[in-house]
Amino acid sequence: MSKKILITGGAGFIGSHVVRLFVNNYPDYRIFNLDALTYAGNLENLTDVESSENYTFLKGDITDDEYIKSIFETHQFDGVIHLAAESHVDRSISDPLAFAKTNILGTMILLNSFKNLWQNNWEGKLFYHVSTDEVYGTLGDTGLFTETTSYDPNSPYSASKASSDHFVRAYGETYKIPYVISNCSNNYGANQFPEKLIPLFINNIINNKSLPVYGDGKYTRDWLYVDDHASAIDLVFHKGIMRGTYNIGGFNEWQNIDLIKLLCQQMDEKLGREKGESEKLITYVKDRPGHDLRYAIDASKINKELGWEPSVTFEQGLSKTIDWYLANEEWMSNIINGDYLKYYEKQYS
Ligand code: NAD
Ligand code: DAU
Repeated sequence: MSKKILITGGAGFIGSHVVRLFVNNYPDYRIFNLDALTYAGNLENLTDVESSENYTFLKGDITDDEYIKSIFETHQFDGVIHLAAESHVDRSISDPLAFAKTNILGTMILLNSFKNLWQNNWEGKLFYHVSTDEVYGTLGDTGLFTETTSYDPNSPYSASKASSDHFVRAYGETYKIPYVISNCSNNYGANQFPEKLIPLFINNIINNKSLPVYGDGKYTRDWLYVDDHASAIDLVFHKGIMRGTYNIGGFNEWQNIDLIKLLCQQMDEKLGREKGESEKLITYVKDRPGHDLRYAIDASKINKELGWEPSVTFEQGLSKTIDWYLANEEWMSNIINGDYLKYYEKQYS
């Protein structure tokens, strides 16, 4: 085995796609997936790779310093791809401390163990921190986030991710750890937990439940198919310039209400419903506090330096995503248990 790679948060949405890509494409790497299996972690996301020879699952919490030290000592990871996080903005509004603990403290504990293990023997080593475009705050009607846009986070989630990015950079400057950071826009695709806009609305349409649109629905996001994010992470991990940052995005801006209408149209067709049927479920509800108006990524650096670009159009990616959810109703019904229902009641009642 030529490299030992620790992927954190590999049982979550994006992490599971990254784990699958690395396990399948790099048989000579040993891939360790560390995940605490919080409400968002689900080993069902990885049943197709769980018995692969080069894959090991470690159940553990990135905020548990002793445990993290022990796995670094035992396994001597050459590379870390760090995705574990509390990731949902609405939850960060109701429980900000949980976000500080996991996203800031957890990242520092990983950085510390990585630094202490290698003690300046940095040849062939890399700490890759997966972050978000939300650290840049909000755009007005024009402009794009570039790698040099100032950080200006508005939610407890984005503030915790911004802070973790700063710690990664600080460990790079102070202790010289080799790192890369990427800041990506909104992902969608298979296995996304149904608290995020697209899977939540797919599930509600299937069940004829109302579609809760925050505010006037005119907020804009830049959507990227999850496998395209995973392929960008692969490229940045292998070819990214050390101590660099890369913005990753879909060149694909949608106002929420237009996206929701497209989703409703595709769902009507796939469910054999009358045209316009699902749109009737749209309900405007109270806005998210501190709601960022618009995110849009300038992904020209990763495009020019590493040749990366998205592989699917939004219409194709959305159609594939809906097909996945329709074919995997059991995956959804296993999630929609007591805890999910309690969250849903609290958030949308
Ligand atoms: P997710 O919520 O689906 O998954 C997070 C995973 O981390 C889960 O498997 C969970 O069990 C695990 N986890 C949480 N706390 C942990 C802890 N203390 N110790 C160990 N594991 C823990 O998240 P996601 O949407 O897949 O996002 C993954 C990463 O990508 C996050 O860092 C997020 O900030 C970033 N990101 C997400 C998006 C997006 O659109 N979803 C976009 C850009 C960046
Ligand atoms: O930009 C990257 C970020 O994208 C990631 O860092 C986050 O982890 C990820 O959760 C996502 O954040 P958003 O807040 O943009 O995603 P969410 O799916 O929660 O919401 C998308 C948009 O839809 C946003 O404008 C809020 C709106 N929305 C969301 C929900 C859940 C609604 O109108 N109604 C809803 O019920």
